[in-house]
Amino acid sequence: MLTHVAAEVAFGLENLGTPPGEIRAQAAAALASVGAAHLLERPTSALSGGELQRLCLASALALRPRLLLLDEPTSQLDPEAAAAFLDTATRTGAAVVISEQRPARPLAHAFRVVFLAGGRIELDAPIADAERWLALHHPSFLGPQPELPAQSDEVSSAPLLTCRGLSFAYADGPPFALPELELRRGEIVALVGPNGSGKSTLARLATGLLEPRTGKIERLGRAGLLLQDPGRYLVTERAEEEVALGVGGDLGRARQQLARVGLAGFERRHPRDLSSGERERLALACVLVTEPEVLVLDEPTRGVDPERKDELARLLRVEAPRRGTLVVTNDDVFAAQVADRTVSVGAGRGEPALV
Ligand SMILES: Nc1ncnc2c1ncn2[C@@H]1O[C@H](COP(=O)(O)OP(=O)(O)OP(=O)(O)O)[C@@H](O)[C@H]1O
Ligand SMILES: [Mg+2]
Repeated sequence: MLTHVAAEVAFGLENLGTPPGEIRAQAAAALASVGAAHLLERPTSALSGGELQRLCLASALALRPRLLLLDEPTSQLDPEAAAAFLDTATRTGAAVVISEQRPARPLAHAFRVVFLAGGRIELDAPIADAERWLALHHPSFLGPQPELPAQSDEVSSAPLLTCRGLSFAYADGPPFALPELELRRGEIVALVGPNGSGKSTLARLATGLLEPRTGKIERLGRAGLLLQDPGRYLVTERAEEEVALGVGGDLGRARQQLARVGLAGFERRHPRDLSSGERERLALACVLVTEPEVLVLDEPTRGVDPERKDELARLLRVEAPRRGTLVVTNDDVFAAQVADRTVSVGAGRGEPALV
């Protein structure tokens, strides 16, 4: 990744021998097509997860390819951007192959569906046949399955977490305001808002990883944070050791926790050899094992397939009475499925609320 957004999008065009006079306009057009025109002059190190994903998509679209291979292109895009991107991709005239864990939107655009499981092609069929087959064999891929434990009725009255009047500024960025937030034991709150609106920032403030510029945060008990890109922070050579790090090396507790997130049998696997969904669940185990009172999960469904998402929703609901849970998510279906209520961040499209 180059240091600036404009250079990153221009890189591929330069390699294709695009006349220098045309590069900037083409790069700007590609960024605009994914709602990222405002990022042109930004350093790549100062982008949110979804802003980075938009940049990568713009870099691919700028080359005007005839074949677009997209591996979970919308996993970090907010719902509006995800819908817009799929429209854009299908209007390029390219043949488009998309692998997706949020399949509802791509299914609406697809002509054909290939279903892979355990390294085998289980289905290769036109869309209408595929939808019938999915309804029968993997209904979660058509929509979340409803039999979740009822939403919490045991919400305690004293908040575990209160954020009031918060604002924050990154080193070279403008100050922006964040919404009021209260979280009580027993409830699951979804934090939603456009890419770049400040959701991850609020998650870090709430768990004490960042200090606010103004405002007050009150927290009772221990906080645990699952980061938006947890794969980057795994340090040991075995999944069980990674989880045991949080509990003084207790491998017994680590194994139990791995089983709770559906990773029994993965104890001795190298964290870096896991799929992104498995890594996401490993990172979740690392946080859950410490039994935090305030649990903050930043994009916990990234790379997680719909059946595992249903399981994750069930796990969070079953465990909800033990703590307060804040789920930061761009996955609107998951938010509706898991949360008791929703708090929105940001002023509007893709901008934090400036103060
Ligand atoms: N390390 C950083 N340095 C400078 N600016 C940053 C940094 N990280 C994020 N920002 C900026 O701060 C704002 C809020 O970013 P944040 O990561 O909190 O957004 P988000 O709502 O989590 O977005 P996404 O849905 O894409 O994950 C954005 O304008 C972003 O570009
Ligand atoms: Mg984020």
